[in-house]
Amino acid sequence: MSNNIDNLLHEDRRFPPSAEFTAQAVGQASLYADSKKDRLGFWDKQAKELLHWHKPYTRVLDWSDAPVAKWFDDGELNVAYNCLDRHVLEGRGDRVAIYGEGEPGDQRVYTYSELTAEVKRVANVFLSLGVTAGDRIAIYMPMIPEAVITMLASARIGAVHTVVFGGFSADSLRSRIDDAEAKLVVTADGGWRKGKVFPLKPTVDAALEANGGGSTVDHVLVVKRGENDVAWTEGRDIWWDDAQAGVDAEHVAQGFPAEHPLFILYTSGTTGKPKGILHTTGGYLTQAAFTHKNIFDLHADTDVYWCTADVGWITGHSYVVYGPLANGATQVVYEGTPDAPHPGRWWEIIEKYKVSILYTAPTAIRSFMKLGREIPAKFDLSSIRVLGSVGEPINPEAWIWYHDIIGGGKAPIVDTWWQTETGAIMIAALPGVTTLKPGSAQVPIPGVVIDIVDDQGIPQDKNSGGLLVISEPWPSMLRGIWGDPARFQETYWEKFGDKYFAGDGARYDRDGDIWLLGRVDDVMNVSGHRLSTAEIESALVGNQIVAEAAVVGAADETTGQAVVAFVILKKSHIDDQTPEEASAILRKHVAEQIGAIARPSKVYIVEELPKTRSGKIMRRLLQDVAEGREIGDTTTLADTGVVSIISAQVH
Ligand code: WTA
Repeated sequence: MSNNIDNLLHEDRRFPPSAEFTAQAVGQASLYADSKKDRLGFWDKQAKELLHWHKPYTRVLDWSDAPVAKWFDDGELNVAYNCLDRHVLEGRGDRVAIYGEGEPGDQRVYTYSELTAEVKRVANVFLSLGVTAGDRIAIYMPMIPEAVITMLASARIGAVHTVVFGGFSADSLRSRIDDAEAKLVVTADGGWRKGKVFPLKPTVDAALEANGGGSTVDHVLVVKRGENDVAWTEGRDIWWDDAQAGVDAEHVAQGFPAEHPLFILYTSGTTGKPKGILHTTGGYLTQAAFTHKNIFDLHADTDVYWCTADVGWITGHSYVVYGPLANGATQVVYEGTPDAPHPGRWWEIIEKYKVSILYTAPTAIRSFMKLGREIPAKFDLSSIRVLGSVGEPINPEAWIWYHDIIGGGKAPIVDTWWQTETGAIMIAALPGVTTLKPGSAQVPIPGVVIDIVDDQGIPQDKNSGGLLVISEPWPSMLRGIWGDPARFQETYWEKFGDKYFAGDGARYDRDGDIWLLGRVDDVMNVSGHRLSTAEIESALVGNQIVAEAAVVGAADETTGQAVVAFVILKKSHIDDQTPEEASAILRKHVAEQIGAIARPSKVYIVEELPKTRSGKIMRRLLQDVAEGREIGDTTTLADTGVVSIISAQVH
């Protein structure tokens, strides 16, 4: 690892912005100077310029209740009004907001006027179902325009949405519904994925039937998309179209206080229980809009933007829904997978809509690299002018491929570091200003203060590394963990007091650019998605054949990390099946318990796990084993022979 890092830190390739790009760039170098001179004044200016306030605020930041920040808190705004009505009122109603591309190739286009009209009707549907400001709505949907419409309709009435990624299991969905105490679930019969309809409504049914029924949910609103047969609970289930038939077309958006909650999004932490990350409106929308406009160099009247993330993740919240729509952008929303029905599907979409800004994840880029450059070469990608990357470090090789093959050798790449908790981009180049360096996320965005510190909290300098912290409150920061203020304090603030601890390792190179080095806690990053080792371990030990389990993230060429599990079977069940069978059973079990994304790529059945004398499993050593590396320091092990036995079993 350290060798690799040293190599990376001597990356010599530099990509200065072209004069042509700089001349038209939205984000100017003066943003840095302005924000340094007066940070709060800078955010104040952005909030006023980028958003419409129903009631102007007089206070920018109130940090007196740290670590719970209040931004613009005596002001009022309506997030949906900012994303919809004002564009229509200002004469942009005919601009396309969403090109909805279904996986089978069907297309639905919404202008800003049409999107506004539909959101108003759905807002009225929610109200008619007794959902009001502050109530929670769970969303379990495919990537179709209705997912965006649902989120905006929720925001419009001041409800709080919690989107659950469609790949999560009934159990995962239920635990999120319970934790958020959702009153309403919005789903679809099914959606298209890999050339097939995958059912969603049956998973919602199973979730609501679990634990003997008795959930907080009164209604399930169902979009017809997959046309698959679904079971129906009269009185509870309502078709989306039927519900809209009876409601008023008009809905007047009212302002809500800037600290009114907008959404809860669950993300994996270091324990078995996901954290409900809470975001509010004014500060969140300010930073989402600011970064979307400046980091992607958005020219809203000419660009066609496409972020490939699902709304089940934070990237889908901030850079499919709130940032782009607040900025009046035209964007593509694509339902399906990159390879259905053919491996050039994404490039075909770029050609079809003349996509000019593409925002995706390194794992996708690496899988395209494997398939070869001949595939994108068949399509006209000349509309591309800015590329973005998110979710994990982008290795220089993938960076160069993305730049040359997708970006025609000229489109700048912005590598954006941020988290569910940060709400919006925190570290990234400013295209047109920053000289790019493949592999490095580079510099904090204007208005954000980041440090790399050692274990004692001492800031590091060029050529050294440590832990990434955010040293000053920022507008789109999380306001807490839903229902668990103690965990909020403990997870992010206990380590350094007044600095937010992100959980990532990082280093400055000799120029002072930031390189992200991955998580320093028990959180894995698989295909840019966060998974907790503890959550998967607890699913494994929940199976009757398992006595003990340890999970690690092992380096993987395509997905960044892969889930690898080491399992000890109960003596009473050892002879029930072969190790291969046990491994297959357990992989399936995890997929059923948590969701397919958490399915281990390998489950090794072992006789013992390496433990310290105090009984703590040494995952670091298991990671060495899983990655086929020489085993590290074993001196603290209770039984030093264990690792070589496991190693021999595995290889
Ligand atoms: C990782 C996704 C390196 C990091 C927006 C972070 C990255 C976690 C990058 C958050 C990047 C995200 N370079 N690492 N550009 N972007 N990460 O909450 O470990 O799903 O802590 O948010 O992904 O994942 P999350």
